[in-house]
Order: sequence, then C-alpha cells, then structure tokens
Amino acid sequence: MKDSYGREITYLRISVTELCDLRCRYCMPEDGVCKKAHEEMLTLEETELAVKAAASLGIKKIRITGGEPLVKKNIVDICEKTAHTEGIKEVCVTTNGITLDKYAEPLKNAGVKRLNISLDTLDKDKYRYITRRGNLEDALKGIEAALNAGFDKIKLNAVLIGGFNDDEIPALAELTRKYPLDMRFIEMMPMYDSGDFKKEAFIPYTKVLEVLPELEKLPRDGSVAKLYKLPGAKGNIGLISPVSAHFCKECNRLRLTADGKIKPCLHSDAEYPIKGLDYDGMVKVFKEAILAKPEWHGVLSPEQRSRAGRNMNMIGG
Ligand code: GTP
Ligand code: 5AD
Ligand code: SF4
Repeated sequence: MKDSYGREITYLRISVTELCDLRCRYCMPEDGVCKKAHEEMLTLEETELAVKAAASLGIKKIRITGGEPLVKKNIVDICEKTAHTEGIKEVCVTTNGITLDKYAEPLKNAGVKRLNISLDTLDKDKYRYITRRGNLEDALKGIEAALNAGFDKIKLNAVLIGGFNDDEIPALAELTRKYPLDMRFIEMMPMYDSGDFKKEAFIPYTKVLEVLPELEKLPRDGSVAKLYKLPGAKGNIGLISPVSAHFCKECNRLRLTADGKIKPCLHSDAEYPIKGLDYDGMVKVFKEAILAKPEWHGVLSPEQRSRAGRNMNMIGG
C-alpha cells in the first residue's frame, strides 16, 4: 500500500522485546528498562496476526529487532512463523551478536535470510566501555558462527562516534577484504534520553569518505545505506546518514513495538495501538498508520533530539 506521499510501504520492523543483554551508551540508559507487565506486550499469536495483517497490505520484508531479539525466549518460533506467512518474502534479524554462536544455525533453519550485527569497535576495552558490559570475544564468536551458518548476507553495523571509533574506520572497513560481509557506518542519532555525548561525538558519514578515499561508489541495493567498496574487497561498505542527509523520501517502512504500537516514523511520537485487536481491526489500524506516515522526521541534531518519545531499545532502530 502507498502512503499519502506516494511511497510504497513494503518493510515492517518488529521489535520483539525492549530488553537487552547489553547497555550501549547511544541506545539505552545504564540501569536498563523497567520490565513491563507481560499483559502489555504482544503475544506470539498477536505478533503472527499482525504479520498477516501487514502482509495483506503489501509488506514483504520483516526485520526482527529489539532491544536484543535473541533474549526473547520464543525468538526462533517467531522467526519461523513469520517466514512462513503468505506474502512475506524475506525475514531478517538485527542483533548485537553476543549469543549468535548458539542461535545462528537455528535462525537460519527457521528461514531467516539475512543478519545485521552490531560491531562498533575491535578493541576489547572500548567494546566493554560502549556496551557497558559486553565481551568483544562473544561478538566476534557470534559473527564467525553467522558466517559459518550460510546466511544470504551479513552486515555489520558500527555507530560512528567522534573520539571513540573514528580512528578505527580503516580497521573496521578492512573486515570486508577478509570476510564476505558488509561493514556499515551509521551516524549516531540523538535519541530521547540515551547517552550523554558531546557535540563532537556526532560525526557525519562524509568522515568515512575522507578517511578512505579509495572507496569506489556502487549503485544502491534498496537499503538506506549509500554503498561503496574497497578495491578487491569481498563485501561492501555502507554509509547510513539519518542526521546529515536523511533518506525519508525513499522510506518504505513501518515499525511495530514490543508493546503493540505501530510507529509510522522512527522519530515521531505518533503511535497506533493494535494490542488486543482481531485481524480486521489490525488491518484497519495498519492502514491508518500508513496514511499517517509523515513526509520526513524533522531536524535531528545534538540540540534537537529525536521526538520519538522512546529510546532506541524501545523502538528497534
Ligand atoms: P537492511 O535491511 O539491511 O537495509 O537493514 P536496515 O538498515 O534497514 O536495518 P538495521 O536494523 O541494520 O539498521 C541500521 C541503522 O539504520 C540503525 O541505526 C537504524 O536505527 C537505522 N535505520 C533503519 N531504518 C531507519 C529509518 O527509517 N530512519 C532512520 N532515521 N534510521 C533508520
Ligand atoms: N543512532 C544510530 N544507530 C543506533 N543504533 C542504536 N542506537 C542508535 C543511535 N542512537 C543501532 C544499533 C543497531 C541498530 C539496530 O541500531 O547499533 O545496529
Ligand atoms: Fe542492546 Fe542493541 Fe541497544 Fe546495544 S544497540 S543496548 S545491543 S539493543
């Protein structure tokens, strides 16, 4: 279905939990989130119904996100049911990767086609700092397991943070020469109350082009990233620029939060509840949400933070 600006909406991001086993500084507060009452969250059956309703309106791609989706007990089941829904062509998962050594194969067998895995640094102390608790080794083990499981595509996500990982742009990019995976650099979005970053921490994607002048430009692949490649590399470099050059004109997505709210835009507080509705009710609300999708997300800057009204872990990125 098209929104009121003529954009075909084909991609639904479903956050299956707000909880996470890490506490990345740009994503969520140190003390985590108050676990909401079970009754407030979508059940597996409601999630299945929502996927069916969305598919009836032309959603073809589902990305499962969190929080951290792999902390959800029935995650493999959710992926499997979603992958088997009529009309759904592709199910993908975005994860921090630290438990992928256990989950990579079950997810692949459940029908997940692609994985996006967070990796902001290759330094173990910096990894511990930015995630406030994680071990780099677990993330690397997870990435290795994902490579061995044979997914169609693996993309690594690094949030660009001035003074933290900008010195690692070459080393992170170099991974695309060694392994068949894409490395993406993402401009940090100033969320609701996540992080206490100074202005200098927000750096534009053009920094990557300055540091890596040898990058060759490639045509876009339907994702929000501008695509490049290091000469002779196995994988691509993607640059995601929500702050300095937003991509709202081509936005094809909706979000569904773990507590059952459809968000037409990541950076708006407009939410459309579907918890407790039957199939027809959900179709109706999905239609309303698509038609309410704003033209763009408005200015985002260190001074003008996101108007999402939630931190990233409660939206799913
Ligand atoms: P692909 O399916 O591989 O294209 O993945 P993706 O880029 O849609 O998903 P992923 O979960 O890996 O997100 C990568 C980054 O893009 C994260 O920082 C997200 O917050 C950001 N992102 C994804 N969708 C949007 C969007 O609609 N608007 C903005 N501003 N950022 C987005
Ligand atoms: N800005 C940009 N990207 C973010 N992510 C989480 N918080 C932010 C933020 N404030 C990324 C994570 C993950 C993806 C789902 O979103 O690194 O890869
Ligand atoms: Fe957890 Fe991902 Fe947020 Fe990090 S970015 S705290 S891994 S949900």
